[in-house]
Amino acid sequence: MKFSLFGHKKRGVPEPSERAVPRHVAIIMDGNGRWAARRGLPRSAGHAAGAETFRRVATYCKSIGIEYLTVYAFSTENWKRPPEEVDVIMELLEKYLIEAIGKMERDRVKMKFFGDLSALSDKLRALIRETEEISAKFDGVQVNICVNYGGRGEILRAARLWRDSGAPELTDELFGGYMYSAGVPDPDLVIRPGEETRVSNFLLWQSAYSELYFTDTLWPDFTPRELDKAISVYNSRERRYGGVL
Ligand code: IPE
Ligand code: IPE
Ligand code: MG
Repeated sequence: MKFSLFGHKKRGVPEPSERAVPRHVAIIMDGNGRWAARRGLPRSAGHAAGAETFRRVATYCKSIGIEYLTVYAFSTENWKRPPEEVDVIMELLEKYLIEAIGKMERDRVKMKFFGDLSALSDKLRALIRETEEISAKFDGVQVNICVNYGGRGEILRAARLWRDSGAPELTDELFGGYMYSAGVPDPDLVIRPGEETRVSNFLLWQSAYSELYFTDTLWPDFTPRELDKAISVYNSRERRYGGVL
């Protein structure tokens, strides 16, 4: 898969026509709170800015031909935060979905949600269902939003689903079919902005051979240019999968 530029050529950005675009990019959208604190703003302002960044980056991913974008929006551990902050994040998610549903025929992005959605409000679950249903017909790019998601929880859930299925066989591939990400290829590149160099329970099963890219840029400051840089670094890596080249 090559970059298809759709008028995105900017001065100073290397001509990417000969470079491969990763098929699946995953992002841990971290650093919203610190972005706000450094500006003397409440953390909620950081989450609002982060939601805007997500919108821009998702559009850019579509324009350069990335097939799958998976983002970490809210972890199973994020419930530990003060309830007011959790409420702000959930409200932003609702707002985002209402807008996304309104613009769906224009944006034409398939959207899926990974995580235990049973803990979310009825309203949010209804919006998620509607978003998934309406956008199921689109192809080109699929955006997976991880909400109340944790990698260990996902693996345990898969194990229980397999046990309850009574299926005798279990291989890597069959087990992957019990993940939220069933049918989605593993991420080629996992990006974590926001200064921390850890995976924080994100895509533990799927990232076995993903390339990891960390940047100090806080998520609200993350730009398409920054994504280009991550892709350039990705392209300079040698993926050996345990073999020799
Ligand atoms: C990421 O930003 C958003 C969520 C985890 C929901 P943070 O809120 O973690 O921002 P920092 O890490 O405190 O700066
Ligand atoms: C990871 O960020 C989760 C999301 C970005 C949704 P956290 O801010 O929750 O991770 P830690 O606490 O720094 O590991
Ligand atoms: Mg954080």
